[in-house]
Amino acid sequence: MEQLRIPGPTPVPDEVLKAMSRQMINHRGEEFWQIIDKVTANLKQLFQTKNDVFMLTGSGTGGMEAAIVNTLSPGDKVLSVSIGAFGERFATIAEQFGAEVIPLRFEWGKAADVDAVRQALHAEPEIKAVLVTHNETSTGVTNDLASISSAAKEFDKLLLVDAISSLGSLNLPVDNWHCDVAVTGSQKGWMAPPGLAMVSVSSEAWQAHAKARMPRFYWDFAQAKSYLKEGQTPWTPAITTIFALSISLEMMLKEGLPNVIARHARVAEAARVGVKSLGLSLFADEKYASNTVTAIAAPDGLDVNKMRKILREEHQIVLAGGQQKLNGKIFRIGHLGWVTEEDIEQVISALKVVLPQAGFRS
Ligand SMILES: Cc1ncc(COP(=O)(O)O)c(C=O)c1O
Repeated sequence: MEQLRIPGPTPVPDEVLKAMSRQMINHRGEEFWQIIDKVTANLKQLFQTKNDVFMLTGSGTGGMEAAIVNTLSPGDKVLSVSIGAFGERFATIAEQFGAEVIPLRFEWGKAADVDAVRQALHAEPEIKAVLVTHNETSTGVTNDLASISSAAKEFDKLLLVDAISSLGSLNLPVDNWHCDVAVTGSQKGWMAPPGLAMVSVSSEAWQAHAKARMPRFYWDFAQAKSYLKEGQTPWTPAITTIFALSISLEMMLKEGLPNVIARHARVAEAARVGVKSLGLSLFADEKYASNTVTAIAAPDGLDVNKMRKILREEHQIVLAGGQQKLNGKIFRIGHLGWVTEEDIEQVISALKVVLPQAGFRS
């Protein structure tokens, strides 16, 4: 079997695969009501929140768009804290819907500087919301979200968080860290296939929703809330992905969230130690290196695409390359969801063989 070690979609355990092979059910019927109630309650536990949580059928990007169109109006000023490709995407969505985006960009590979966030909020009192990526998958960096949240809340701003590759894998207590909207995706640490964006919505976000005038229909949180009361979703949901989540969330709760988080930390440490033992360097500032994806700087002479091709064809291991300006400059090992230290040891052993074949001289 191929070892899929990209940062999403991630491998799905057999129990989850089995849950997906069943017949369709009526999404307006009693059985679906029971399933959605249970899955939503389990998601709330894993989000560490008492806020509303909705499953929206779509990918993570749809959830990012939902966060924006449900809380903002054209012309609103937003501070975009960006440390990579997904931070840029969040800003672009806000801009497309007419927000006035104030960019606060940091060098790719580094985390956001909280003092700079504070200064930006101080300099522009009319900022309404802060957009931030918790875990920047494109660079393998995890922001200090607790501190960024403190800064945003000191200035009484809405906090919209792309937690797509962090929630369920890294510690993110949504309520303690005052996230007004936190977004994740089923294909990341949740051990389920793509198909759902899961979002939490705070009472402050609901107050913003009442005044928000960006166009919205499919993503309207008010529709999601009123249908959820009846055990339904407003539109036909990705039923199969919900079947999958109904099992994978039980598995996560059985393992226990603290243990899931600790496992991700151990696996990530194994990845970092392993790549360094091969003579490679991390791309990310190690203080902020992500526990869900490790980005490795491509050394001189290494042909990243050739390396990935040999890994796939001869070792059945699939790694990710770099995105946008990092194409050819880094490669990434995804280690979120259904992953153990042994999986990473296999990747490191294969890399040891393949790196010299792809031009690396240590
Ligand atoms: C941090 C982050 N944001 C946004 C996205 C986009 O999610 P999707 O591809 O599900 O739309 C991803 C997916 O890789 C991600 O890792």
